[in-house]
Amino acid sequence: MAQRIRLEVNGKPHDIAVDDPAMPLLYALRDELGLNNPHFGCGLGQCGACMVHVDGQPVRSCVTPVSQAQGRKITTLAGLGTPEHPHPIQQAFVEEQVPQCGYCINGWIMTAAALLRDTPHPTEAQIRDGLLGLKCRCGTHLAIIRAVKRAARTA
Ligand code: FES
Ligand code: FES
Repeated sequence: MAQRIRLEVNGKPHDIAVDDPAMPLLYALRDELGLNNPHFGCGLGQCGACMVHVDGQPVRSCVTPVSQAQGRKITTLAGLGTPEHPHPIQQAFVEEQVPQCGYCINGWIMTAAALLRDTPHPTEAQIRDGLLGLKCRCGTHLAIIRAVKRAARTA
C-alpha cells in the first residue's frame, strides 16, 4: 500500500504517495515533483550529479531514501537562486563559462554553495578538499575552481 510522504522543497510543501519509502529522494524530486536539476549520474553516491541540500547539508539524493527527507528542508539548484537573482556561485559559473555538457554542474554548484556558506573565503586547498569526490567527464575542473574563487570574491 502506498505511503504518503510530505516533503518541503524550496520552501514549498508537497505530499506524495510512494510505494516504497526506501525509494531514492532523487526519484521523488524528478519523477513526482518534476524538479530536474538534480541529475541521475551513477546512482551509487559516487559522482554528485544528484546533489541537493537537506537541512543545508549537501546530500547525494540517489542514495538517500525519500523517507529520510520527510520533515526536513530540501533545497535544489532551482531553490538556490533565480535567473533574476542568482546565487553568487551560480553567477560565477556563468561568468567563468564553466559548463560544457552541463550534466554534472548541479553537483558542483550545490556543494560549492555549502562550502562558501561555511567557509566564505576558502583557500584553493580548501576548495579542492570541499569538492572532493565530484566528477566531471568534460574536464571542467580548473574552470570550476576559478568560479568558486570568483564567487568568494563577489559574495
Ligand atoms: S547520481 Fe548520485 S552520486 Fe552519482
Ligand atoms: S560539464 Fe559535462 S560532465 Fe561536467
